[in-house]
Amino acid sequence: MSAAAAGWRVAAGGSVEGTLAVPGDKSISHRALMLGAIADGRTHISGFLAGEDCLATARALEALGVRLERPAETEVRVHGVGARGLAAPAAALDMGNAGTAMRLMMGLLAPQRFDSTLVGDESLMRRPMERVAVPLQMMGARIDTHAGRPPVHIHGTPHLRAIDYTLPVPSAQVKSAVLLAGLAAAGRTRITEPAPTRDHTERMLGAFGVELLHEGATIAMEGGQSLRGTEVRVPADFSSAAFFLVAGCLAADRPLRLSNVGINPTRTGLLELLHRMGADIRVQRRAAADEGGVRSILEPVADIEVRRSALRGITVPEALVPLAIDELPVLFVAAACARGETLVRGAHELRVKESDRLASMAAGLRALGVEHQLLADGLWIRGGDTVGGGAVDSCGDHRVAMAFAVAALRARGPIEIARVANVATSFPGFVATARAAGLEITPL
Ligand code: S3P
Repeated sequence: MSAAAAGWRVAAGGSVEGTLAVPGDKSISHRALMLGAIADGRTHISGFLAGEDCLATARALEALGVRLERPAETEVRVHGVGARGLAAPAAALDMGNAGTAMRLMMGLLAPQRFDSTLVGDESLMRRPMERVAVPLQMMGARIDTHAGRPPVHIHGTPHLRAIDYTLPVPSAQVKSAVLLAGLAAAGRTRITEPAPTRDHTERMLGAFGVELLHEGATIAMEGGQSLRGTEVRVPADFSSAAFFLVAGCLAADRPLRLSNVGINPTRTGLLELLHRMGADIRVQRRAAADEGGVRSILEPVADIEVRRSALRGITVPEALVPLAIDELPVLFVAAACARGETLVRGAHELRVKESDRLASMAAGLRALGVEHQLLADGLWIRGGDTVGGGAVDSCGDHRVAMAFAVAALRARGPIEIARVANVATSFPGFVATARAAGLEITPL
């Protein structure tokens, strides 16, 4: 069975244990492909996430004239074409379900000498692109959207100007798009973040030989710098590990271990939140020589061990929300199985992810009989030791589907989860990995 099944039935209860390797980091894999494409010389990527989202980026780059080789499932050789080497695509570029791919490509394509169009699946066609178009337009780019949403038409403008931009929402995708466009712009691009967001682009630009200056919450980068192809070792995706961190808290009677996981501090807000909830999670950082980024990328990596824990509800500090943004669906499951109340506010961004994740999670919690309240910018949940069984709709959202699979470990009856095919966007092999850990998942 593969993640392409229409739905899953997950048996109630059970336990998890063992040592798991989850696939490569999605954010880092997208960036390695894109930076490799516009670098001079070859880039070798290992630990690449061969999920649908990153494959959409790979196909788009091939349509732009970049030669990619796949010597193995998780290895890619990118033959960089240099800063001015991309070629006009013959058709619209289909980014599938991948918001990161579409938004970063906007930054990459805005300064080209040709026009291009970006489209995606039903979910992506509903997502806001104006947040990227606006700063790029300030740089002189010509970009049309359909009322702020895709299709995105880019009229290539080779002479962009650097800007000094304060992001209105904390978004690594917007930051990254402006940095990519800034590489081709005249002058010094400056970006200020309202709150820290994942910094993989900054770290990886450094690894490709680009100089960046950090001045507090501001990043500055001189345009016109060229990239040198390099070696990128992608660590396991913390966001995929997150499902098993919570699974372990709920049901690891013997330790559950996750190996080689990226623990970039701009990604690991969930660790802090689970610790506050009383989780028994031990993080063993790997030595530098072994790390996922070959020294210069400086992505810290760890082996993580988790054991069954008596979780307590918490009030999530808003400052941690951007650092745990993709992990909030599974945090809601942890909260549903914790003693006491959990409150998450300041998470309005969840409304514009692959689904409206506040609404999708609230509907699923309702189906499982979990007392909760849906707020404009968050969720309040009263936890119990267990949740009910029932049928939930993932709304085609990979992280919602995987979060409810984990909930089955503490359910009083089986949980049926509909529309799970998109799990393949970020975690191909989830079902096999979950079964290896001890979850009983069957296709519907
Ligand atoms: C991502 C940034 C985040 C995150 C997404 C991946 C990235 O989105 O939710 O899954 O790789 O830059 P925002 O930048 O919209 O917050």
